[in-house]
Amino acid sequence: MGKGFYISKAVVVTCVVVAISAVATIIALSVVYSQEKSKNEATAPSTISPNTATPSTQPPATTPSTPKEPWQCYRLPDSLAPISYNVTLWPRLEPNADDLYIFSGNSKVVFKCVKETDLILIHSNKLNLTTFKEHHATLTGLDGATAPTVKKTWLEAPTQYLVVQLNSPLQAGSIYELFTDFVGELADDLGGFYRSEYIEDGVKKVVATTQMQPTDARKAFPCFDEPAMKAVFHMTLIHPQETVALSNSMNYDPVNITMHGLNLTQTRFEPTEIMSTYLLAFVVCEFTYIASKPEADVLVRIWARRKAIEEGQGDYALEKTGPILAFFEKYYNSSYPLKKSDQIALPDFSAGAMENWGLITYRETALLYNPGVSSNGDKEWVATVISHELAHMWFGNLVTTRWWNDLWLNEGFATYVSYLGANKAEPTWNMKDLIVLNEIFGVMAVDALASSHPLSSKEEDILKPEHISELFDSITYSKGAAVLRMLSEFITESVFSKGLHTYLEEFKYNNTVYTDLWKHLQMAVDKAGISLPSPVEVIMNRWILQMGFPVVTIDTKTGSITQKHFLLDPDSVVDRPSPFNYEWYVPITWIKTGVEKEQYWLVAKEATNKNMTLGVDEWLVANIDMRGFYRVNYDSDNWERLLTQLGSKHTDIPVINRAQIIDDAFNLARAKMVNTTLALRTTKFLHEEVEYMPWQTARRNLDYFYLMFDRSEVYGPMQAYIKKQVTPLFDYFKDLTVNWTKIPEKHTDQYNQVNAISLACSTGVEGCKNLTTGWFKEWMENEANNTISPNLKSTVYCSAIAAGGEEEWDFAWSMYKNATIASEADKLMYALSCTKQPWLLNRYLKYCLDPKKIRKQDATFTIVYIASNPIGQPLAWDFIRSNWNHIFNDYGGGSFSFGRLIDGVTKRFSTEFEYKQLLQFKEDNAGNFGSGTASLEQALERTKANMNWVAMNEKQVFEWFTKEASSPV
Ligand SMILES: *[C@@H]1O[C@H](CO)[C@@H](O)[C@H](O)[C@H]1NC(C)=O
Ligand SMILES: *[C@@H]1O[C@H](CO)[C@@H](O)[C@H](O)[C@H]1NC(C)=O
Ligand SMILES: *[C@@H]1O[C@H](CO)[C@@H](O)[C@H](O)[C@H]1NC(C)=O
Ligand SMILES: [Zn+2]
Repeated sequence: MGKGFYISKAVVVTCVVVAISAVATIIALSVVYSQEKSKNEATAPSTISPNTATPSTQPPATTPSTPKEPWQCYRLPDSLAPISYNVTLWPRLEPNADDLYIFSGNSKVVFKCVKETDLILIHSNKLNLTTFKEHHATLTGLDGATAPTVKKTWLEAPTQYLVVQLNSPLQAGSIYELFTDFVGELADDLGGFYRSEYIEDGVKKVVATTQMQPTDARKAFPCFDEPAMKAVFHMTLIHPQETVALSNSMNYDPVNITMHGLNLTQTRFEPTEIMSTYLLAFVVCEFTYIASKPEADVLVRIWARRKAIEEGQGDYALEKTGPILAFFEKYYNSSYPLKKSDQIALPDFSAGAMENWGLITYRETALLYNPGVSSNGDKEWVATVISHELAHMWFGNLVTTRWWNDLWLNEGFATYVSYLGANKAEPTWNMKDLIVLNEIFGVMAVDALASSHPLSSKEEDILKPEHISELFDSITYSKGAAVLRMLSEFITESVFSKGLHTYLEEFKYNNTVYTDLWKHLQMAVDKAGISLPSPVEVIMNRWILQMGFPVVTIDTKTGSITQKHFLLDPDSVVDRPSPFNYEWYVPITWIKTGVEKEQYWLVAKEATNKNMTLGVDEWLVANIDMRGFYRVNYDSDNWERLLTQLGSKHTDIPVINRAQIIDDAFNLARAKMVNTTLALRTTKFLHEEVEYMPWQTARRNLDYFYLMFDRSEVYGPMQAYIKKQVTPLFDYFKDLTVNWTKIPEKHTDQYNQVNAISLACSTGVEGCKNLTTGWFKEWMENEANNTISPNLKSTVYCSAIAAGGEEEWDFAWSMYKNATIASEADKLMYALSCTKQPWLLNRYLKYCLDPKKIRKQDATFTIVYIASNPIGQPLAWDFIRSNWNHIFNDYGGGSFSFGRLIDGVTKRFSTEFEYKQLLQFKEDNAGNFGSGTASLEQALERTKANMNWVAMNEKQVFEWFTKEASSPV
């Protein structure tokens, strides 16, 4: 899915693409909210034997497991296997007499007894089960089996089970049916069967919808809620006559019925394919849709609010879904497994999107696109999210990993191939390059911390729902994508896709562990005669079973090559043991003076390759296009040659590597492996550079300097230097756009135009501020006619609100409240945080806790936006400290964003005083951080690192900027 992580990605896209004045949201040391090993928490004993393919990468649990009753274990026993369910649900779209929104329903599950047992455990959470003759369920034998009588039933809340104890055992090989009847709350908690609301023509509309992944199907009806418990589902929905009901499979013709004296409609659905519970979806709404042409192989429908469809906001998604599906059919060499593909945009949705099989649910911003209003970044987001979710229709849905510990494979894979699918849909966008910027550089900053974790977890370490939820982090998505991309590069994309094909064939409708994929890729490698230093599994174990990645140092004088675990903070202590001593098998690709050389495998700590020595005037750059997940350092001689090359003819170095040189240098400097001034020198060629990737990379890395120094004397010279560097870029875009009247043709140019304007405006380049405030003023004078180019909106809004006062703010607020397009609302929501007036920021913070003003799904983002404004930062910090309990309790369910919140509000911390405040905050709210626990630890670690860094670098950075700002170009 696009769970938590997709949220943060959505924000990344918004901020990075759009971003702002001096300070963007992404910084080099940005710790998204990577999962911390839950050291302090006793691992609950499990029913799974610790016998998986994964060698131990974690210290053993400290608490010895005490024997427990089966219902106290978080994993289901293997005695029962579901076959099919018949589920009827009736959501009420109006509150009952107690002012509660509810749904009622019943479910029959047919299951086979695999091992004799007198106990039935089935997941059920927050459901009020009807009691029949003292029991919560009735059991029937099928196919001649006699059902034992029920002894006792109860709901075991901690493990979320309905427990059914029997008077005699179920017989192995026999088939039974368990019936339950229940009522649940249709809450606005974004999990399970929940409700979403919106206003249309002044009327409140209620949508009943679902988000099951990872463990909330059990909130909708009792079920064996584990991914390997696949079954067939027969769904029936009962709903008001003016609404439509959707589910994973095609519906039969709806019929009108009367129940409790109400005229209703009953919609039944065709049986689903054999599938996992977390991929179920059902929606009842008043939406309309647009559909693919009747002659298309697969029926594709895009559903949304009536207004959104009428305005054509679904057209782009519809246009691109067909080609992306066709791409994946070819890539997997496997036809789309279902009859139809519904995609629906929901007003309230916690993730970015969810790959429910046949009925994909999205945030509105991830599916809807409005050409006149949305930016190219919004459009890219739509294309990549659709591509990500469609990739899952095979990889994840048809073939599903057995347990959540392999989530990285599912999500990393979908993230990687989403760029291939989007590249097919938009061939001119360079999507295959943008993965480096969007996924890889960012997650390297997280994975370079001592508190990172391996991609792969052991099955028995992931038990409780909150542990499962924690896995939805940037390591899982982005590092997963990066290492699979690396693998696909070194065995070639066509061999990779052949392995995928046989993997899908062997395991369709079934479950796997990650080694099953290695096996199939190995078969494809052998068949193609590709030579590798070791089997795929052996190479990949290095990348998935130990955290982090190497920095490879190449000495071009001797040809010596060494590798070392790269740690952003060289003083941090790695207390997580690695089965491979933090050594990797590193595929080294390289260019010598413009010529690509043969790939070289570094399989030990050190090696020598004489080909990597250089003659006079030669230079070398390694890791072409950032294909491998590692950083590169060189002897100082080669660094100088690279700087000279960048300064004379930078285009001889591929564009991704120009970005990589900057990113590597800044990160190596953070790790004290090169001087900070060397890193700063990699930005000197930018006054000649017009490409997006190097600029964007420099900008993100310099953001860290802004975070640390925008309240110090370094600020002035730093601004002067950036102004000098960006002035030619500003002029370049002024020409390219014919004095800002045309939109650049190239996708990445459109992005870089945003960099040009926002950096120029924030550093005071002549003519910039007048331009943006002028555009905004025009809009204020005629609010029905916003002529600001969609790509520039965020920057223009932000810069005008920063320059303005209450009047600008209130105008933007009313535009936000009236926005009918989610992406437009998001831009305004962000821009409102740019004001420099503390009282406006404080008022805005208050709005965050009023769901009528700011939707719950957006509250934490808004606070983080405010905190990225230097003036808003202390206000936001005070705000979350004084409201922590309220935020934690009311915004916990389904939001998944505590980590982000803590991370965002504390990322500027760099003083002893702030460190102490953070410690105090931790103490005051001990045990009350939920999914933010790990982030709090990381914030402490980061604050310490910032303090050291500032102490060490402030002086030389000040001197460097001062010198460069005054020297002629
Ligand atoms: C479930 O529903 C299907 C379709 O209506 C029906 O054929 C089947 O018999 C039902 N199964 C049970 C156990 O009621
Ligand atoms: C479930 O039962 C509890 C206790 O009787 C009650 O407070 C709650 O409102 C019920 N929930 C629903 C959805 O009816
Ligand atoms: C169901 O009732 C609605 C409203 O009365 C009517 O418009 C519709 O045609 C009916 N559908 C069927 C299948 O009878
Ligand atoms: Zn996904």
